[in-house]
Amino acid sequence: MDNRAVGVFDSGLGGLTAVRELKRILPNEKIVFLGDTLRVPYGTRDPETLRQFAEDDLNFLLSKNVKYIVIACGTVSSNVPDEVLEAVPVPVTGVIAPTVAAAVSSTENGIIGVIATPACISSGAYQNGIAKTDPSVKVIARACPRLVPLIESFGVSELGSEIDAALEEYLAPIMESGADTLILGCTHYPLIADRITRIMGRDVHLIDSGAQAARTAKEALETSDSLAARKSRPKHDFYVTSDPDRFTSSSGYFLGEAIGKATITTL
Ligand code: DGL
Repeated sequence: MDNRAVGVFDSGLGGLTAVRELKRILPNEKIVFLGDTLRVPYGTRDPETLRQFAEDDLNFLLSKNVKYIVIACGTVSSNVPDEVLEAVPVPVTGVIAPTVAAAVSSTENGIIGVIATPACISSGAYQNGIAKTDPSVKVIARACPRLVPLIESFGVSELGSEIDAALEEYLAPIMESGADTLILGCTHYPLIADRITRIMGRDVHLIDSGAQAARTAKEALETSDSLAARKSRPKHDFYVTSDPDRFTSSSGYFLGEAIGKATITTL
């Protein structure tokens, strides 16, 4: 038993897809969330910058005395060097391995599409992970640089035809390939899953990378006997590095429920 919180971080709203699933499957766990909204997007940064951001985010959560960390960010998960993770004194889960496992077991025709940020796609993490798990699977991977800025700009502008046009362009080669499974490799993308399904059709199975990481965290906490034991539902803490009010209202819109007020912090 361990009543310390579970830490979750992302560059912004995307990490809430892991929070949503953690709240559903582990309702007794307290969550400390960090969204680095001042430096979003991460997905167009180089690996050295991403390493620094990862260290800042991990150190912030460690300063909150968390027992476990979910890297709810495909960009960081695919770029963070092993030595950075090995230096973290608590267990850490990224999104890549759990998402690859779910996608490979979901596909029936052996064709998987992957959409993610440029930094995530160029790392090759999803492509290599799938090839290692099942070399017979065909992978069509597309970098989608316009999606995160458009999702994050919600609240300043509406989500509209611009996002649908970007999706149609990015998804076209994946639809042509006949993929029956699509990895939403950036945790922001499940927030627009309804728009993706409208374009791809209901037969394509979408894999939510944030939710997959949350399920892995649950298994790990169960196996290590580290689940919390408390009588009432915990209050979660949300930190962002800029514009807490916009984060609070956008997260309510995307999750369909209020998350509580976000607090501004520096890293
Ligand atoms: N949600 C993140 C990811 O999964 C980060 C996106 C970004 O900041 O570009 O990649």
